[in-house]
Amino acid sequence: MTSKKELTLAYSLIIIFFIIGVLSYAAFPAKSPDKPVRLMFKGVAGKVLFSHKLHTNDAGCSDCHHNLEEDETSPEACGSCHEPEMEDEDVPSRTDAFHSQCIGCHQENEAGPQEKECSLCHVM
Ligand code: HEC
Ligand code: HEC
Ligand code: HEC
Ligand code: HEC
Repeated sequence: MTSKKELTLAYSLIIIFFIIGVLSYAAFPAKSPDKPVRLMFKGVAGKVLFSHKLHTNDAGCSDCHHNLEEDETSPEACGSCHEPEMEDEDVPSRTDAFHSQCIGCHQENEAGPQEKECSLCHVM
C-alpha cells in the first residue's frame, strides 16, 4: 500500500515534469521554422518588404522557388543564381527576375502592387 503522502509526491512530480516538458518544448522547438516570415530587400530603389506569410497562403513553395528540388525545404536565395548582371541571356538578372515574378503573379491575380505602382513595393 502506498501512503497518501507518497501518492501526492508522485502526482506532484508528474505535474512538474509535464510543465518542464512543455516549457522546454516552447523554448527549444524541435523543428525550426523553415521559412523566414518577412524579408526586407534593400537596394538603390529603396526597401521592399515581402511577407512570406501572406504569400504562402495559397501558393506552393515552388511557385516562386522554381528551382526547388523535390522534398527540399530550404531553397537558395534567388540572387545565388540571378546576379545583377547576367551573361546568359536566358537567365534574367536579379532585378528582372524579381520584377517579372512578383509583378507577373500580381497581374495574373489582379491583386497586389502592379507594374506602375512602384511605391507600393519600394519604400524610400
Ligand atoms: C511587386 C513589387 C514591385 C514593384 C511593383 C516594383 N518593384 Fe522594383 N523591385 C522589387 C524587388 C523585390 C526588387 C529586388 C530588390 C533587390 O534586388 O534586393 C526590385 C528591384 C528594383 C530595382 C533595382 C534595385 C537595386 O538595388 O538593384 C530598381 C531600380 C527598381 N526595382 C525600380 C522599380 C520601378 C521604377 C518600379 C515601377 C515602375 C518598380 N521597381 C516596381 C519589387 C517591385
Ligand atoms: C510568393 C513567392 C514565394 C513563395 C510562395 C515562397 N517563397 Fe520563400 N522566398 C521568396 C523570396 C522572394 C525570397 C527571398 C530570396 C532572396 O533573398 O533572394 C524567399 C526566401 C526564402 C528563404 C531564405 C532563402 C535565403 O537563403 O535567403 C527560405 C528558406 C524560403 N524562402 C522558404 C520557403 C518555403 C519553405 C516556402 C513554402 C512554404 C516558400 N519559401 C514560399 C518567395 C517565396
Ligand atoms: C538554382 C538557381 C536558381 C534559383 C535559386 C532561382 N532561379 Fe530563377 N532561374 C534560374 C534559371 C537557370 C532560369 C532560366 C531557365 C529557367 O527558366 O529555368 C531562371 C528563370 C527565372 C525567371 C524567368 C523564367 C520564369 O520562370 O518565368 C524568373 C522570373 C525567375 N527565374 C525568378 C526567380 C526568383 C524570384 C527566384 C527566388 C525566389 C529564383 N528565380 C531562384 C535559376 C534559378
Ligand atoms: C504567386 C503569386 C505572387 C507572387 C509571386 C508575388 N505576389 Fe505579392 N501578392 C500576391 C497576392 C495574391 C497579393 C494580394 C494578397 C491579399 O491582398 O490578400 C499580393 C500582395 C502583395 C503586397 C501587398 C500586401 C502586403 O504585403 O503589404 C505586396 C507589397 C507584395 N505582394 C509584394 C510582392 C513582392 C515584393 C513579390 C516578389 C518578391 C511578390 N509580391 C510576389 C501574389 C503574389
